[in-house]
Amino acid sequence: MDELLLRKGMSRREFLDWIIKGGLLTTLAGLLFPALAYLWPVTRRGPVSGLIEVGRADDIGVWGSKKTVVGGTAFLILRTPNEYKAFSAVCTHLGCIVSWDDTKRQIACPCHAGFFDVEGRVISGPPPSPLPPHEVKVIDGKLFLRP
Ligand code: FES
Repeated sequence: MDELLLRKGMSRREFLDWIIKGGLLTTLAGLLFPALAYLWPVTRRGPVSGLIEVGRADDIGVWGSKKTVVGGTAFLILRTPNEYKAFSAVCTHLGCIVSWDDTKRQIACPCHAGFFDVEGRVISGPPPSPLPPHEVKVIDGKLFLRP
């Protein structure tokens, strides 16, 4: 190996220096990559800070709905003829996940027959408070939710 290194004009010491430098660079990249990967999605999520892209607006028909999970929390997005609305999909009674009933145009909680109107207000049942609303916007045909 010495002969090969000498033929290429590199001493054993220079060769070991290159190996050590390469190892240090690899270690440094291994430390920086997870930190950058953690920060990168924040800028990639959407054009407006704090809004998370949750799909195409056209995927939800009028009086239709979509459930999505952002940051481990479930959200319910509704489409009325005039606008999109978003609520926490976690029932304010005991935390079951609510669903949109498009025939009755109500949000229903299956656990204890809790019902909410299209504004998230309690219609009937044990839920003590309305579903928390969340901002939802359509930008370039895509839905963005502020969790
Ligand atoms: S958890 Fe929704 S009504 Fe009880």
